[in-house]
Amino acid sequence: MAFNPNNCRNESEVESKLIVSYLLPKLGYTPDTWHQEIAFGNIRLDFLSFATQVIPIVLDADSPMSLVMEAKHPKENLDRHLRKLKRYLTSLSIRYGLITNGKELRIYARISNDIQLVFQCAGQDLESRIDEIIALIGRDNLNFGKDRDNLELEDSKLNLVSPDLISENPDNLEVEEEDSQINLVSPDLISENPDNLEVEDSQINLASPDSISEIPDNLEVEDSQTNLVSPDSLSETPVESNNPATPEPEQNQILAIEKIAEPLSVNIEFKSDLILSQAIPNNMKIIAVYHNKGGVGKTTTVVNLAAALSKEGKRVLVIDLDSQANTTFATGLVKFEDEEQDDLKDCNILQVLQSEDFYSIAEVARESNFCNPKIDVVPSHIDLMYYETELNQLDYSRMILIQKLAEVEDKYDIVLIDTPPSLNFFARVALIAADYLIIPSDLKPFANQGLINVKDFIKKVNGFKKQIGKKPLEILGILPCKISPNLKFVQYSLPKRREAIPKRYGLEIMDSVIYEREDLAKCAEIFKIVGNMEIADPISVLDFKPDCTSSQEFEMLAEEVLVKIGK
Ligand SMILES: Nc1ncnc2c1ncn2[C@@H]1O[C@H](COP(=O)(O)OP(=O)(O)OP(=O)(O)O)[C@@H](O)[C@H]1O
Ligand SMILES: [Mg+2]
Repeated sequence: MAFNPNNCRNESEVESKLIVSYLLPKLGYTPDTWHQEIAFGNIRLDFLSFATQVIPIVLDADSPMSLVMEAKHPKENLDRHLRKLKRYLTSLSIRYGLITNGKELRIYARISNDIQLVFQCAGQDLESRIDEIIALIGRDNLNFGKDRDNLELEDSKLNLVSPDLISENPDNLEVEEEDSQINLVSPDLISENPDNLEVEDSQINLASPDSISEIPDNLEVEDSQTNLVSPDSLSETPVESNNPATPEPEQNQILAIEKIAEPLSVNIEFKSDLILSQAIPNNMKIIAVYHNKGGVGKTTTVVNLAAALSKEGKRVLVIDLDSQANTTFATGLVKFEDEEQDDLKDCNILQVLQSEDFYSIAEVARESNFCNPKIDVVPSHIDLMYYETELNQLDYSRMILIQKLAEVEDKYDIVLIDTPPSLNFFARVALIAADYLIIPSDLKPFANQGLINVKDFIKKVNGFKKQIGKKPLEILGILPCKISPNLKFVQYSLPKRREAIPKRYGLEIMDSVIYEREDLAKCAEIFKIVGNMEIADPISVLDFKPDCTSSQEFEMLAEEVLVKIGK
């Protein structure tokens, strides 16, 4: 069928007319080899195509997930979506990504942890250049599976293993409940049940991580494209192919099942490099977010950066070291209305700092579902301020956080510490424990003048760090926060303000910018009614509106931070 880009007036027409009716058939992807609206945890792909159907499927450099296609509204600028495409390709090990708004089409190839533009054309030139596109991403040309001698080629059976989602915490692998989802199986979980997981399925196997951890060895499952296995059925009722208890399949299911002669034995494999990466000791990185000026966006940065890092697959711990406890509140741990019900009072960062032998991080940290995947948070408490002098006099108080964090270094990839707007003891404890520092600033005069204090404070902290044999703080930079998105300001004033920071203060400024956005305030002010109480139920901006500009800004910040800390 000919393709006329002018027929695509919105995103859904880009999907239906350009991708489904024209591109997929031209590229040789039959309907059984591509899937629409596929969710992998928080990643949602418009179209995912497979050049080969390979069992077992391992999400490694040779992943058989060949091509993701993302459709955008004709008015959308494709540049805005590239970071996301990169995340899709790299975190799911997909070889190519095609992105189009009908007016323009681009193809990116994944090269290690990056993507590279390999083809670009205007929508109106598509027909004349279709052969080039076929040569690049046509099904036959991507059909590399025959070369892989250790893999069996079979029909459309899938069982996916994501190395990126390696986690000790099965909750990090939460999958939204949708029919079109593919289940990602954590290697940790599978390693406990590695033997002969037998799956018969003509489509995609749905199972929750919890249920998989309970899967007995030699489980056989029969399923079809239209009859996805629920977590319950997987964990409790293994269904065998001839199981008389299995309900009669629908007509379309019979067709799918008939294609399968024998149940397949799916041996889940690990690539050796994955095993290696599991064996390497984890190098937990500790980042403090600090400025002695109040209200510059420290807490907002900590909680939303934590969410963005968690969505990048990192295991994140947040520590609230500010007696205002804003991070504790923002991560949804204040679930009481009345101080009588305060369940944080006796188990928070104060006890962590007071006690040498008790109140480990593991004991005090609480799971926060303000973002998905969940993170852990060590809460703060207003009581902290009353104990500052007492703690200051304890010999071990500056070291205790370092020691207790060392105990959880295999549990987390990144620790983010929120600090008070002050040069006080708690700020010092945070900076002593941290490897890296982010300094949020609105770049206004008072915040800038405060930088002199911050630098002096860092110098003293580094003096102490040297005494205890710890490396000096590495400053990731000043993070422009709460910046006015006014166009004139962004064009004229912001560049000058950015330039002033290194010139006047000798501090680097980060590439990322967190602009002042309504969504950021809104997501922090969500409440729910429980019984007759109104309980705070904040969520991260990335969970509130995943595609809003603010979410994208935090995704960019997370990427910048990960690059800078080498994670
Ligand atoms: N980028 C932003 N857009 C809109 N509102 C923001 C933004 N950043 C922060 N805010 C709002 O500004 C206020 C102060 O932000 P935040 O609490 O993050 O600052 P802080 O530096 O942690 O303050 P403190 O020094 O008191 O701890 C909050 O009400 C927050 O919702
Ligand atoms: Mg704060």
